[in-house]
Amino acid sequence: MTHVFTIAIDGPAGAGKGTLARRLADHYRLNLLDTGLTYRAVAYTLIQHALPLDNVSAAETAARQVDLAKLDRAVLSAHAVGEAASKVAVYPTVRRILVEKQRDFAKTPPGAVLDGRDIGTVVCPDADIKLYVTASAEVRAQRRLAEIESIGGTADFIEILADIVRRDERDMGRADSPLKPAADAHLLDTSEMAIEAAFLAAMAIIDDVLAKRDKA
Ligand code: DC
Repeated sequence: MTHVFTIAIDGPAGAGKGTLARRLADHYRLNLLDTGLTYRAVAYTLIQHALPLDNVSAAETAARQVDLAKLDRAVLSAHAVGEAASKVAVYPTVRRILVEKQRDFAKTPPGAVLDGRDIGTVVCPDADIKLYVTASAEVRAQRRLAEIESIGGTADFIEILADIVRRDERDMGRADSPLKPAADAHLLDTSEMAIEAAFLAAMAIIDDVLAKRDKA
């Protein structure tokens, strides 16, 4: 059986894990799944149908309908959809349906980079590499503000920071699959690190694991 290679990347919103995941998937020629989009797709369906986010059975139906090949980042990337996703993500039955799809994706050769909140702990506990990418809430808020301003928008730093802290609390505080580093995850703090430096640091970790494995 060919070995399917898995890189699990977890961390809070805005830590840079999405960009890192894309760079690593390109470099190691692996499939890529941003699992946040699957929770966003569920939330988006509820919003589209004007259904409350605590309608669990509608959320389950929406989760079953999620097609990983049809996740539309442009539509799902709206800030409000991310907030709503964090709310539907607390329901264990919704998580179970999405996790199953994510695991199937990870099993597809040659393997994948998956990023999210529970990849190293729940979705792919046997991943070859686990990275926990983090940055201080202030730095993440600053980056988000810069991103908004770069496309001509305006926003208030204090509001963005409060938003980030609230989202962290929800994602880290939920009972089912809370965001936390897996015991065997490599920690990567990007607070003082540009994305290129984070990519090089991640590559060094991965190449080291690959070299040790080749020797074994
Ligand atoms: O990474 P993101 O901002 O697109 O994720 C949106 C929300 O989805 C996040 O706040 C919590 C939830 N999520 C999750 O619970 N588990 C994952 N593996 C990915 C995202």
